[in-house]
Amino acid sequence: MGVTASAPAKVILFGEHFVVYGEPAIVLAIDKRVYAKAEKRVDKILHLNSANLALEATIENGVFTTEKGNPKEAKLRFEPVKTAVAKVLAKHGAAVGIDLEISSEVPVGAGLGSSAAVIASTTAAVSTLLNVNISREDIFRITFEAEKIVHGTPSGVDPAIATFGGTLLFQMDTGFRPLDIKSEISLVIGNTGVERSTRVQVEKVRAVKEKYPQVVEPMLRSAREIVLRAVEALKKDDLETVGELMNINHSLLRGVGVSDDSLEWLINAATKAGALGAKLTGAGGGGCMIALSRKDKLEQVTEAIQRAGGNPFIARKTDEGVRIEQS
Ligand code: MEV
Repeated sequence: MGVTASAPAKVILFGEHFVVYGEPAIVLAIDKRVYAKAEKRVDKILHLNSANLALEATIENGVFTTEKGNPKEAKLRFEPVKTAVAKVLAKHGAAVGIDLEISSEVPVGAGLGSSAAVIASTTAAVSTLLNVNISREDIFRITFEAEKIVHGTPSGVDPAIATFGGTLLFQMDTGFRPLDIKSEISLVIGNTGVERSTRVQVEKVRAVKEKYPQVVEPMLRSAREIVLRAVEALKKDDLETVGELMNINHSLLRGVGVSDDSLEWLINAATKAGALGAKLTGAGGGGCMIALSRKDKLEQVTEAIQRAGGNPFIARKTDEGVRIEQS
């Protein structure tokens, strides 16, 4: 008998990258989830399997062995999962062998927070399996610590939304505040299919900021103002303003060097098809873009993204953070 837990993927509506420098971001959990199923083994081996990534590995006495797929990729993807399991085992107090199976409804490495969702769902599944009593705050902390291994200097926005769900106003120094947003937010997410690393994109922005501090400082202030105005617009259900602010936010992201041709192509297609606003989401450099659309234009925007070579799907916000599916 195993335990399955899940955690939501996310889109950052406003503020990615600038959030790393203390500015606020608006992030929402979407109705696509990552699942982790944990089962006890008779030995002391941790066995990790990701169907989506076609990767499989075992860890025995700290020795990492790739059973399937590229060893470098297996190490990169599974390292934070291993760390999260080790933290739960430390609370449990005894070594236990575990089979862990991960599956995802969202593309991986595409800016939709799948890596944080993998860690949060794994932490919940393994702690429930071993009867280790941990709070949501513990899951957030473990996910954040494990994310640091792959992302370098993450802001914590991905672990927060994967754990708590809903719509959050997130800021590094003050943490997060749930936003009570009544409006139906219909987003088309367009995956460029271009894989990239969050760490590399975050470093790219750091280099631009170091080279042009006086140029980037006002951009940070501008990003803050965009978020504050977006909160007001979302509360008033003023989607026109939200769309305009998304366009301005995208220009800032392009300015700090994290857009690319594949994203620009899909963003232009969505805008021409009648989207209220469009921008990259997450780390950029490929990955995904989002387009805000009125309901009557959703189909047109989706088709336009598809024709432009992207892989589109419609996402809605969800309130549910990490949860146990089955035990
Ligand atoms: C990645 O989803 C969001 C970034 O702002 C990095 C971070 O906040 O950790 C690019």
